[in-house]
Amino acid sequence: MRLAVLASGKGSNLAAIANAIARGELNATIQVVIYNNPAAGVVQKAEHYGIPTVLLNHRTFASREALDTAIIETVQAHQADWVIMAGWMRRVTAVLIDAFPRRVLNIHPSLLPSFPGVRAVEQALAAGTKITGCTVHYVELVVDSGPIIMQAAVPVLADDTPATLQARIQVQEHQIYPAAIALAGQAQLTAAE
Ligand code: GAR
Repeated sequence: MRLAVLASGKGSNLAAIANAIARGELNATIQVVIYNNPAAGVVQKAEHYGIPTVLLNHRTFASREALDTAIIETVQAHQADWVIMAGWMRRVTAVLIDAFPRRVLNIHPSLLPSFPGVRAVEQALAAGTKITGCTVHYVELVVDSGPIIMQAAVPVLADDTPATLQARIQVQEHQIYPAAIALAGQAQLTAAE
């Protein structure tokens, strides 16, 4: 699997995927990291692993479709064929989804379909839910919808803050994202047989 990672956070999921590849747990290469926020910490992470980075700043594109077209061109220019969203906070369009059928994955910090959208960890705390977690799913047009590949549950503790809860969710994210990517790759091989 040749991965293009779309990220704009601190890049801990990128590191988890890169580490799983280095340990031989995921048969893949990360061809490029595309980021949209010039200040994103993921850039240093990518450089640490020797992965090329490309900034596609959404503010410089006239439409979501124009940004997605640039993403497709960048993915293809780096010979990648899977799009892995790891902290990508932009909505994508059919332009991107249709270019890589069943090859665009996302990770979200809740047990979908609960708490889609932004501030999922805060949403879970505000709802008083006792269990939340994280989800890896195929990307479809509706935000945070799409068939679920893998989930992990995380208990909410009485004294949790958004930061403490998110930190425990991320421990689980780092476990399930590489495993879910491997599963998706396997599923596509099986479907092609
Ligand atoms: C992750 O927790 C991921 O679930 C979340 O952004 C974080 C990125 O962290 N994604 C979303 O909220 C998407 N709606 P990272 O930069 O450390 O990998």
